[in-house]
Amino acid sequence: MSSSVSAFQPVTSHAVTMALCTKTLGRSLHILDETPSTNSAALALAQAGAPDGTVVVADTQTSGRGRLGRQWYSPPGKNLYCSIILRRSLSPEQVSHWLSWVPLLSAVAVARAIQVISGLRPSLKWPNDILMEQRKVGGLLCESSGTGTPNAFVIVGIGLNVNMWRDAFPDDLRDLATSLAAEAGRPFDRAVLLATFLSELEIRYEAFLLGAVSDIQHEYALRCATLRQRVRVEMTNGECGECIEGQAVSIGDDGSLQVIVDNLGDPLTRGTPVAIRAGDVVHLRKDVNP
Ligand code: BTN
Repeated sequence: MSSSVSAFQPVTSHAVTMALCTKTLGRSLHILDETPSTNSAALALAQAGAPDGTVVVADTQTSGRGRLGRQWYSPPGKNLYCSIILRRSLSPEQVSHWLSWVPLLSAVAVARAIQVISGLRPSLKWPNDILMEQRKVGGLLCESSGTGTPNAFVIVGIGLNVNMWRDAFPDDLRDLATSLAAEAGRPFDRAVLLATFLSELEIRYEAFLLGAVSDIQHEYALRCATLRQRVRVEMTNGECGECIEGQAVSIGDDGSLQVIVDNLGDPLTRGTPVAIRAGDVVHLRKDVNP
Protein backbone atom coordinates (compact mmCIF):
# COMPACT_ATOMS: atom_id res chain seq x y z
CA MET A 1 0.00 0.00 0.00
CA SER A 2 1.14 3.55 -0.55
CA SER A 3 1.34 5.86 2.47
CA SER A 4 -1.51 6.21 4.94
CA VAL A 5 -1.74 9.87 3.84
CA SER A 6 -2.94 8.81 0.38
CA ALA A 7 -5.44 6.45 2.02
CA PHE A 8 -7.55 9.45 2.97
CA GLN A 9 -7.20 11.30 -0.34
CA PRO A 10 -10.20 11.48 -2.67
CA VAL A 11 -10.15 9.01 -5.56
CA THR A 12 -8.95 11.06 -8.53
CA SER A 13 -8.60 10.24 -12.20
CA HIS A 14 -4.89 10.95 -11.93
CA ALA A 15 -4.37 8.59 -8.98
CA VAL A 16 -6.31 5.75 -10.63
CA THR A 17 -4.63 6.20 -14.01
CA MET A 18 -1.16 6.27 -12.43
CA ALA A 19 -1.84 2.89 -10.81
CA LEU A 20 -3.70 1.33 -13.75
CA CYS A 21 -2.10 -1.33 -15.94
CA THR A 22 -5.12 -2.57 -17.90
CA LYS A 23 -5.70 -2.48 -21.65
CA THR A 24 -9.45 -1.75 -21.59
CA LEU A 25 -10.99 -1.58 -18.13
CA GLY A 26 -10.91 1.91 -16.65
CA ARG A 27 -9.42 3.53 -19.76
CA SER A 28 -12.64 5.53 -19.90
CA LEU A 29 -13.12 6.73 -16.34
CA HIS A 30 -15.88 8.89 -14.81
CA ILE A 31 -15.22 10.05 -11.26
CA LEU A 32 -18.15 11.68 -9.50
CA ASP A 33 -18.41 13.33 -6.08
CA GLU A 34 -21.97 12.17 -5.57
CA THR A 35 -24.56 10.25 -7.56
CA PRO A 36 -27.74 8.35 -6.71
CA SER A 37 -26.11 5.08 -7.83
CA THR A 38 -23.01 4.37 -9.92
CA ASN A 39 -24.92 1.47 -11.51
CA SER A 40 -27.64 3.89 -12.66
CA ALA A 41 -25.00 6.35 -13.91
CA ALA A 42 -23.21 3.55 -15.80
CA LEU A 43 -26.49 2.31 -17.26
CA ALA A 44 -27.22 5.80 -18.65
CA LEU A 45 -23.68 6.03 -20.07
CA ALA A 46 -23.96 2.57 -21.65
CA GLN A 47 -27.29 3.48 -23.25
CA ALA A 48 -25.63 6.60 -24.63
CA GLY A 49 -22.91 4.43 -26.23
CA ALA A 50 -20.06 4.50 -23.68
CA PRO A 51 -17.33 2.03 -24.67
CA ASP A 52 -16.62 -1.42 -23.27
CA GLY A 53 -14.62 -1.12 -20.05
CA THR A 54 -15.97 2.29 -19.00
CA VAL A 55 -15.80 2.73 -15.22
CA VAL A 56 -17.90 5.03 -13.03
CA VAL A 57 -16.75 5.77 -9.47
CA ALA A 58 -18.49 7.94 -6.89
CA ASP A 59 -17.30 9.17 -3.52
CA THR A 60 -20.82 8.76 -2.16
CA GLN A 61 -24.18 7.42 -3.37
CA THR A 62 -27.51 8.82 -2.25
CA SER A 63 -29.51 5.74 -3.34
CA GLY A 64 -26.90 2.97 -3.54
CA ARG A 65 -28.59 -0.28 -4.52
CA GLY A 66 -27.85 -3.79 -3.25
CA ARG A 67 -29.15 -7.15 -4.44
CA LEU A 68 -32.79 -8.08 -3.98
CA GLY A 69 -33.95 -4.48 -3.72
CA ARG A 70 -31.82 -3.72 -0.65
CA GLN A 71 -30.05 -0.41 -0.05
CA TRP A 72 -26.26 -0.11 -0.06
CA TYR A 73 -24.89 2.11 2.71
CA SER A 74 -22.65 4.61 0.89
CA PRO A 75 -21.15 7.32 3.14
CA PRO A 76 -18.59 9.73 1.59
CA GLY A 77 -14.80 9.74 1.89
CA LYS A 78 -14.28 6.13 2.96
CA ASN A 79 -15.36 3.36 0.64
CA LEU A 80 -15.33 2.26 -2.96
CA TYR A 81 -18.50 2.43 -5.07
CA CYS A 82 -17.89 1.71 -8.72
CA SER A 83 -19.56 0.26 -11.79
CA ILE A 84 -17.99 -1.17 -14.93
CA ILE A 85 -19.62 -1.45 -18.34
CA LEU A 86 -18.88 -4.73 -20.14
CA ARG A 87 -20.20 -4.91 -23.71
CA ARG A 88 -20.36 -7.95 -25.93
CA SER A 89 -21.96 -9.01 -29.15
CA LEU A 90 -23.15 -12.55 -28.40
CA SER A 91 -25.64 -15.16 -29.53
CA PRO A 92 -28.61 -15.82 -27.17
CA GLU A 93 -26.96 -19.07 -25.95
CA GLN A 94 -23.68 -17.30 -25.22
CA VAL A 95 -25.43 -14.46 -23.38
CA SER A 96 -26.78 -16.62 -20.58
CA HIS A 97 -23.34 -18.23 -20.06
CA TRP A 98 -21.77 -14.76 -19.98
CA LEU A 99 -24.37 -13.38 -17.54
CA SER A 100 -23.87 -16.39 -15.26
CA TRP A 101 -20.11 -16.12 -15.06
CA VAL A 102 -19.42 -12.35 -15.10
CA PRO A 103 -20.67 -11.87 -11.50
CA LEU A 104 -18.68 -14.84 -10.22
CA LEU A 105 -15.41 -13.97 -11.94
CA SER A 106 -15.85 -10.35 -10.77
CA ALA A 107 -16.25 -11.55 -7.18
CA VAL A 108 -13.04 -13.57 -7.49
CA ALA A 109 -11.27 -10.48 -8.89
CA VAL A 110 -12.44 -8.35 -5.93
CA ALA A 111 -11.25 -10.97 -3.44
CA ARG A 112 -7.92 -11.31 -5.19
CA ALA A 113 -7.40 -7.50 -5.31
CA ILE A 114 -8.09 -7.25 -1.58
CA GLN A 115 -5.56 -9.99 -0.95
CA VAL A 116 -2.93 -8.31 -3.13
CA ILE A 117 -3.17 -4.91 -1.45
CA SER A 118 -3.85 -5.99 2.15
CA GLY A 119 -2.69 -9.56 2.69
CA LEU A 120 -6.19 -10.36 3.99
CA ARG A 121 -7.82 -13.45 2.49
CA PRO A 122 -11.51 -12.83 1.82
CA SER A 123 -13.91 -15.64 1.04
CA LEU A 124 -17.00 -15.57 -1.15
CA LYS A 125 -20.58 -16.30 -0.25
CA TRP A 126 -22.40 -17.51 -3.33
CA PRO A 127 -23.13 -15.78 -5.59
CA ASN A 128 -21.17 -12.59 -4.95
CA ASP A 129 -20.78 -11.45 -1.38
CA ILE A 130 -17.23 -10.76 -0.23
CA LEU A 131 -16.67 -11.91 3.36
CA MET A 132 -14.02 -11.57 6.01
CA GLU A 133 -14.74 -14.46 8.36
CA GLN A 134 -18.53 -14.22 8.71
CA ARG A 135 -18.82 -10.50 8.05
CA LYS A 136 -19.58 -8.83 4.74
CA VAL A 137 -16.87 -6.48 3.44
CA GLY A 138 -18.36 -5.99 -0.02
CA GLY A 139 -20.87 -7.08 -2.60
CA LEU A 140 -21.63 -7.01 -6.29
CA LEU A 141 -24.76 -6.03 -8.16
CA CYS A 142 -24.72 -6.98 -11.86
CA GLU A 143 -27.43 -5.57 -14.09
CA SER A 144 -27.78 -6.31 -17.79
CA SER A 145 -29.54 -4.74 -20.74
CA GLY A 146 -30.07 -5.48 -24.40
CA THR A 147 -29.42 -9.18 -23.86
CA GLY A 148 -31.70 -10.18 -26.77
CA THR A 149 -29.75 -7.94 -29.14
CA PRO A 150 -26.22 -7.90 -30.57
CA ASN A 151 -25.44 -4.97 -28.25
CA ALA A 152 -25.77 -6.59 -24.87
CA PHE A 153 -24.06 -5.01 -21.93
CA VAL A 154 -23.75 -5.79 -18.26
CA ILE A 155 -23.04 -3.29 -15.50
CA VAL A 156 -20.83 -4.79 -12.80
CA GLY A 157 -21.40 -2.73 -9.63
CA ILE A 158 -19.07 -3.16 -6.67
CA GLY A 159 -19.45 -1.78 -3.20
CA LEU A 160 -16.48 -2.30 -0.87
CA ASN A 161 -16.16 -1.10 2.71
CA VAL A 162 -12.60 0.19 2.76
CA ASN A 163 -11.75 2.78 5.41
CA MET A 164 -14.74 2.56 7.79
CA TRP A 165 -13.85 1.86 11.39
CA ARG A 166 -16.25 -0.48 13.13
CA ASP A 167 -17.95 2.25 15.20
CA ALA A 168 -18.81 4.17 12.00
CA PHE A 169 -21.24 1.46 10.83
CA PRO A 170 -24.90 2.04 11.62
CA ASP A 171 -26.24 -0.17 14.44
CA ASP A 172 -28.07 -2.56 12.13
CA LEU A 173 -24.88 -3.32 10.12
CA ARG A 174 -22.26 -3.35 12.89
CA ASP A 175 -22.42 -7.09 13.59
CA LEU A 176 -22.91 -8.10 9.96
CA ALA A 177 -20.46 -5.87 8.09
CA THR A 178 -16.78 -5.05 8.27
CA SER A 179 -14.19 -3.10 6.30
CA LEU A 180 -10.64 -3.64 5.10
CA ALA A 181 -9.37 -1.07 7.61
CA ALA A 182 -11.25 -2.71 10.49
CA GLU A 183 -9.79 -6.09 9.55
CA ALA A 184 -6.22 -4.99 8.82
CA GLY A 185 -5.95 -2.20 11.40
CA ARG A 186 -4.83 0.35 8.81
CA PRO A 187 -6.42 2.36 5.99
CA PHE A 188 -6.02 1.69 2.26
CA ASP A 189 -5.63 3.84 -0.83
CA ARG A 190 -8.92 3.47 -2.72
CA ALA A 191 -7.40 4.47 -6.08
CA VAL A 192 -4.78 1.72 -5.80
CA LEU A 193 -7.45 -0.75 -4.71
CA LEU A 194 -9.61 0.15 -7.72
CA ALA A 195 -6.72 -0.12 -10.18
CA THR A 196 -5.69 -3.48 -8.70
CA PHE A 197 -9.25 -4.77 -8.93
CA LEU A 198 -9.56 -3.68 -12.57
CA SER A 199 -6.33 -5.55 -13.43
CA GLU A 200 -7.51 -8.70 -11.66
CA LEU A 201 -10.87 -8.42 -13.40
CA GLU A 202 -9.37 -7.91 -16.84
CA ILE A 203 -7.14 -10.97 -16.47
CA ARG A 204 -10.10 -13.20 -15.57
CA TYR A 205 -12.54 -11.67 -18.04
CA GLU A 206 -10.13 -12.12 -20.94
CA ALA A 207 -9.45 -15.71 -19.87
CA PHE A 208 -13.20 -16.34 -19.66
CA LEU A 209 -13.76 -14.92 -23.16
CA LEU A 210 -11.06 -17.32 -24.41
CA GLY A 211 -12.96 -20.23 -22.83
CA ALA A 212 -11.08 -20.77 -19.56
CA VAL A 213 -14.26 -21.30 -17.54
CA SER A 214 -12.97 -24.27 -15.58
CA ASP A 215 -10.04 -22.22 -14.22
CA ILE A 216 -12.48 -19.58 -12.98
CA GLN A 217 -14.82 -22.24 -11.62
CA HIS A 218 -11.88 -23.75 -9.72
CA GLU A 219 -10.66 -20.40 -8.38
CA TYR A 220 -14.19 -19.47 -7.32
CA ALA A 221 -14.73 -22.82 -5.56
CA LEU A 222 -11.44 -22.46 -3.65
CA ARG A 223 -12.65 -19.15 -2.19
CA CYS A 224 -16.29 -20.09 -1.74
CA ALA A 225 -17.28 -20.28 1.94
CA THR A 226 -20.72 -21.57 0.94
CA LEU A 227 -19.39 -24.95 -0.18
CA ARG A 228 -19.62 -27.76 2.40
CA GLN A 229 -22.05 -25.61 4.39
CA ARG A 230 -25.57 -26.41 5.31
CA VAL A 231 -27.57 -23.66 3.64
CA ARG A 232 -31.05 -22.25 3.41
CA VAL A 233 -31.83 -20.74 0.01
CA GLU A 234 -34.70 -18.40 -0.59
CA MET A 235 -35.44 -18.70 -4.27
CA THR A 236 -35.67 -15.44 -6.15
CA ASN A 237 -36.83 -16.86 -9.48
CA GLY A 238 -39.37 -19.48 -8.46
CA GLU A 239 -37.14 -22.59 -8.87
CA CYS A 240 -38.56 -25.59 -6.95
CA GLY A 241 -40.61 -23.62 -4.40
CA GLU A 242 -39.75 -20.66 -2.24
CA CYS A 243 -37.20 -21.97 0.22
CA ILE A 244 -34.98 -25.06 0.48
CA GLU A 245 -32.43 -26.35 2.97
CA GLY A 246 -29.59 -28.70 2.24
CA GLN A 247 -25.86 -29.05 1.79
CA ALA A 248 -23.99 -26.96 -0.78
CA VAL A 249 -21.61 -29.30 -2.58
CA SER A 250 -20.17 -27.64 -5.68
CA ILE A 251 -20.29 -24.90 -8.32
CA GLY A 252 -21.87 -26.09 -11.57
CA ASP A 253 -20.52 -25.55 -15.08
CA ASP A 254 -23.15 -22.83 -15.41
CA GLY A 255 -22.05 -21.05 -12.21
CA SER A 256 -25.00 -22.44 -10.26
CA LEU A 257 -24.76 -23.51 -6.62
CA GLN A 258 -25.30 -27.27 -6.43
CA VAL A 259 -27.24 -28.20 -3.30
CA ILE A 260 -28.26 -31.64 -2.03
CA VAL A 261 -31.68 -30.80 -0.70
CA ASP A 262 -32.97 -32.28 2.58
CA ASN A 263 -36.04 -34.49 2.45
CA LEU A 264 -36.45 -34.43 -1.30
CA GLY A 265 -39.55 -36.64 -1.64
CA ASP A 266 -38.76 -38.73 -4.73
CA PRO A 267 -36.32 -41.59 -3.82
CA LEU A 268 -35.00 -41.54 -7.41
CA THR A 269 -33.80 -37.96 -7.15
CA ARG A 270 -32.80 -38.00 -3.46
CA GLY A 271 -29.08 -37.20 -3.12
CA THR A 272 -28.93 -35.59 -6.56
CA PRO A 273 -27.82 -31.95 -6.34
CA VAL A 274 -30.29 -29.28 -7.38
CA ALA A 275 -28.84 -26.35 -9.38
CA ILE A 276 -29.59 -23.00 -7.76
CA ARG A 277 -29.21 -20.23 -10.31
CA ALA A 278 -30.61 -17.32 -8.29
CA GLY A 279 -31.38 -16.97 -4.64
CA ASP A 280 -30.57 -15.55 -1.26
CA VAL A 281 -28.33 -17.95 0.63
CA VAL A 282 -28.03 -18.23 4.41
CA HIS A 283 -25.13 -20.26 5.81
CA LEU A 284 -26.51 -22.49 8.56
CA ARG A 285 -23.44 -24.39 9.80
CA LYS A 286 -20.40 -26.19 8.39
CA ASP A 287 -21.05 -29.87 7.83
CA VAL A 288 -18.97 -31.94 10.28
CA ASN A 289 -18.09 -34.49 7.58
CA PRO A 290 -17.24 -32.43 4.50
C1 BTN B 1 -25.09 -6.48 -2.50
O1 BTN B 1 -26.28 -6.41 -2.18
O2 BTN B 1 -24.29 -7.14 -1.85
C2 BTN B 1 -24.59 -5.75 -3.71
C3 BTN B 1 -24.14 -4.37 -3.36
C4 BTN B 1 -23.66 -3.59 -4.56
C5 BTN B 1 -23.41 -2.14 -4.22
C6 BTN B 1 -22.71 -1.43 -5.33
S1 BTN B 1 -22.09 0.14 -4.82
C7 BTN B 1 -21.72 0.53 -6.47
C8 BTN B 1 -22.87 0.02 -7.32
N1 BTN B 1 -23.92 1.00 -7.38
C9 BTN B 1 -25.03 0.61 -6.75
O3 BTN B 1 -26.06 1.27 -6.63
N2 BTN B 1 -24.85 -0.62 -6.27
C10 BTN B 1 -23.53 -1.12 -6.57
